[in-house]
Amino acid sequence: MKKQLGIGLAALVASGLMLAAPVTAQEYANNEETFNLLMQEGETGYANNCAACHGAAGAGGGGPSLIGSNVVQSRSAVIYQVLFGAMDHGMPPYEAILSDEEIAAITTYIRNSWDNDYGIVLPRSVEMRRTVPPAEG
Ligand code: HEC
Repeated sequence: MKKQLGIGLAALVASGLMLAAPVTAQEYANNEETFNLLMQEGETGYANNCAACHGAAGAGGGGPSLIGSNVVQSRSAVIYQVLFGAMDHGMPPYEAILSDEEIAAITTYIRNSWDNDYGIVLPRSVEMRRTVPPAEG
């Protein structure tokens, strides 16, 4: 599985999606192949890292349901949530555990599974937000 992800991501790099320029709306709209790859990898990543608290079908458990969540709906908010967690409320941070690609895959998966239909998250968007801390409070 890990190996497959590596190969897929090499393709992502080759396709020029990981250059340092801002991600355009067009890039988000026109990436069906990337979307399918991220969904596939995200399903595994979600099962391994998140399902224990958020449920195999996203309906919640120890953590809240991710279905229809405002945080999941917002691309920047969901990236922040996974990168930095919410330690005071029992959600661990993943910035030191998961790569940009893994977080892009998992957030793409939760944004487009169950009843959610919120679109792709590209690795570069995760990368950009690592260095921009979430707003205070
Ligand atoms: C140890 C349990 C636990 C794990 C593991 C966990 N979470 Fe969470 N998660 C929580 C809790 C608890 C909250 C509520 C935090 C709060 O209220 O501030 C939360 C909140 C969230 C939210 C915000 C939901 C909302 O509508 O407010 C998202 C999105 C989320 N988690 C995604 C993930 C993803 C993706 C993973 C895996 C990479 C993950 N979580 C792993 C416990 C967990």
